[in-house]
Amino acid sequence: MTHSEQIVLVAGTVDDVEAAVAIDDAASALYTDAGIVFDFPVGHPMAAHERVAWRVCAAHDGLLFATTKAEGARIGFIVMGTKDGDAYLEQISVLPAHMRRGVGTVLMTEAVAWSVRRNHRAVWLTTYDHLVWNRPYYERFGFAVVPAADCGPEIAAVIAFQRTYLPEPDRRVAMRKTL
Ligand SMILES: CC(C)(COP(=O)(O)OP(=O)(O)OC[C@H]1O[C@@H](n2cnc3c(N)ncnc32)[C@H](O)[C@@H]1OP(=O)(O)O)[C@@H](O)C(=O)NCCC(=O)NCCS
Repeated sequence: MTHSEQIVLVAGTVDDVEAAVAIDDAASALYTDAGIVFDFPVGHPMAAHERVAWRVCAAHDGLLFATTKAEGARIGFIVMGTKDGDAYLEQISVLPAHMRRGVGTVLMTEAVAWSVRRNHRAVWLTTYDHLVWNRPYYERFGFAVVPAADCGPEIAAVIAFQRTYLPEPDRRVAMRKTL
């Protein structure tokens, strides 16, 4: 049995956002290893914005955890919301010990299914262009980079905000999958 067949998706609530943040903090080790350091202490605009956005998504059934069938442990999550009237993948993260075993694929499949269930025409995300687990990973699922001129105002605002605070700002890109 593959790891992905042992995964159960469980909806989270606003009260579970901190558990998602903890998973994401651990998953960020991938970036640190690649020389991209996120240093956003509690209260930093990036951290504060993320918590608020994720709480809003969680309140609208947009927080989903990948849990192990055996123990029920949370090992990954997605946060889904909307931007410019389309679905928006706010975040996907998997605990380092469980990476590269298909958990992310289960979560990406659910991100698309979540969007389809809500009758969205497209799902968007923002990511780095040059890291193998970012743009190339999403291309596997049918996402393509969208030029800035073709992004709606809310996606453009996300990119602008990220370029203010994230390392390697010029590498941030928006991607879309048409549904
Ligand atoms: C992106 C992420 C959710 C994928 O989760 P996952 O469970 O490892 O995903 P899958 O097992 O379905 O696929 C893994 C694929 O990602 C790529 N990948 C992941 N980590 C990698 C690494 N350290 N080096 C190279 N490729 C990597 C590979 O293409 C890999 O496929 P392979 O194992 O067949 O080579 C996970 O890497 C993660 O949590 N990253 C940190 C958080 C993050 O970057 N989120 C996205 C923000 S835009």
